[in-house]
Amino acid sequence: MTPIHHIRPTDSDYSTRLVAPLRLINLIWPLPEPRDIEKWRLRGTHHFVIYSEAEPLAHAGIFVREVFTARGTIPVGALGGVCVHPDYRGRGWGRDVAQAAFDFLPQLGVEVSLFQTPVPDFYARLGARLVSNRFHNGSNPADPFMDVYKMILPASFDWPEGDIDINGPGY
Ligand SMILES: CC(C)(COP(=O)(O)OP(=O)(O)OC[C@H]1O[C@@H](n2cnc3c(N)ncnc32)[C@H](O)[C@@H]1OP(=O)(O)O)[C@@H](O)C(=O)NCCC(=O)NCCS
Repeated sequence: MTPIHHIRPTDSDYSTRLVAPLRLINLIWPLPEPRDIEKWRLRGTHHFVIYSEAEPLAHAGIFVREVFTARGTIPVGALGGVCVHPDYRGRGWGRDVAQAAFDFLPQLGVEVSLFQTPVPDFYARLGARLVSNRFHNGSNPADPFMDVYKMILPASFDWPEGDIDINGPGY
């Protein structure tokens, strides 16, 4: 398998190592303003990256978020930024970086990942399932996620029904 590099929030050179993956992320999801790498580090974000030469071609990020549900607080693996360079799709690299992030759930101390996605079938192949809760952020009733589909992994996790406060902005 193509090697997957792990960038940890505790790495002393975290910000430097994130510069290159940021190029890929900005290519896939352009933003008018620069992204705040320090915010990712403070969230405790781990990054899984596939490179060719020095250029990142696939990326997945994950951090822990405590969400508030009808059954109490659940810490989730907040997966985001899963992307592959458009010229390098269809080689299994998207699956590999997403799987690396999911494999890291035990080390994060959580049993389940919660994430949004425009490509639910891609994640269903990895063992995720759709959930249909209403999501909000604190007192703001608007859905903090951009994508219509929300999923959890593993599908077997006993996920609660009802409203869920994701306790922060969408990711
Ligand atoms: C979605 C994305 C990460 C997939 O990356 P990829 O490297 O092309 O996917 P892989 O080659 O690893 O595909 C793994 C499997 O998923 C399938 N798959 C890939 N993209 C899919 C999609 N959009 N919908 C359903 N299945 C998909 C593949 O056919 C393959 O199936 P197989 O195991 O039966 O052969 C990539 O298309 C991408 O970067 N898209 C833009 C950003 C995005 O939407 N990211 C998701 C954010 S949650």
